[in-house]
Amino acid sequence: MKQLNKIRVAVLFGGRSAEHEVSLRSAANVIRFLDLSRFEIVPIGIDKQGNWFLGNDIFTKSLEQNNVPKLSQNHEAWFTAEWIGKPVKKNTLNELVQSDGQMFDVVFPVVHGTLCEDGTLQGLLELANIPYVGCGVLSSAIGMEKDISKRLAVNAGMLVAPYLTIKYDEWQSNAKQFVQKITEQLTYPVFVKPANTGSSIGITKVKTVDQLALAIEEAFCFDVKVIIEKALQVRELEVAVLESLEPHTDPIVSVIGEIKPQHEFYSYEAKYLDENGAILEIPAIISDDLTMKAKSIAKKLFIILECEGMARVDLFLEMTTQQIYFNEINTIPGFTQMSMYPKLMNASGFSYTNLLTHLIQLAIKRHTNKNRLRRDVHAKHVELVS
Ligand SMILES: Nc1ncnc2c1ncn2[C@@H]1O[C@H](COP(=O)(O)OP(=O)(O)O)[C@@H](O)[C@H]1O
Ligand SMILES: [Mg+2]
Repeated sequence: MKQLNKIRVAVLFGGRSAEHEVSLRSAANVIRFLDLSRFEIVPIGIDKQGNWFLGNDIFTKSLEQNNVPKLSQNHEAWFTAEWIGKPVKKNTLNELVQSDGQMFDVVFPVVHGTLCEDGTLQGLLELANIPYVGCGVLSSAIGMEKDISKRLAVNAGMLVAPYLTIKYDEWQSNAKQFVQKITEQLTYPVFVKPANTGSSIGITKVKTVDQLALAIEEAFCFDVKVIIEKALQVRELEVAVLESLEPHTDPIVSVIGEIKPQHEFYSYEAKYLDENGAILEIPAIISDDLTMKAKSIAKKLFIILECEGMARVDLFLEMTTQQIYFNEINTIPGFTQMSMYPKLMNASGFSYTNLLTHLIQLAIKRHTNKNRLRRDVHAKHVELVS
């Protein structure tokens, strides 16, 4: 039975993404810090095959230990997106169903990467008409796509590192010509990245042309589109942005943080495997002028990409010119113990718990606003012409 007056929050974690394990760590923290006086938690793990399980195992496993919590599959899967269009299996969740027929009031997707953070899951939740935390379909998809988000940033007058893109089909038929084009148009080193991943998965720093093809092949293991980008000499700045609950108010922009990778770049190893892989400096030691510029770019990006809820904007400060470049935006930023987004918001006056409450309130507000929309154009038309 639902606890009286509490909002039932389904925390979604795992997922069919290379960032599955990172998501488990993030979700474990979200579950730990949600305000239990307001919310009741329904933990839902998605395995790497896309099956959804009800389970609380990730927070009963010790979070203090450094090992990644595992998603156990003691239960029968009760949902798989691939069931759509197939006969629906009877689920065993009757005890969860509330008097209004809902299983939960709002979903908090704590998932990262493709098929999770890229608008696909958000689309499913839209179809199900369930409120969910964070960006909607459009900004989730754009935020995940490094090429499209950069194009919009450039369109708004921001700087991005020079880059070229290639699709898998083109690479298969024109690899040699493309390698030559890179060598003519960019200078080494370059970063080779899948267009749609996060956590530095599939990314290689390439120093000479003879390493390029292998790096591109590696990136194509994760996406059908790859970006090859000139490596800049940079300091890495990150800014947390949070939508305001007040109508017609600018989003809240955090203090600036700096990531100081202790590896050659901020690789997967530096992010998650080596506990000394990076130093997080909050606030970043930069001039007031640069702080103001970084904040204003982050806010502008949040607005032009039509983000909702939250986003972490990652910027580069180019060392020689002291100019700020847009690198990428993360619409479901990490929520692990070490993650920048909650740390930045904390340094800006939001405790982890208040931040989560604010995000859930935003989700419910957006859903209420959307449910106001008419779906009956035809009936109205008939009324007008009769
Ligand atoms: N153009 C670049 N110049 C310098 N460093 C870069 C560049 N592109 C990426 N990097 C390094 O690689 C890391 C991961 O790249 P990023 O584009 O942020 O991918 P992800 O979405 O996986 O985090 C960055 O944090 C930075 O350390
Ligand atoms: Mg990044």
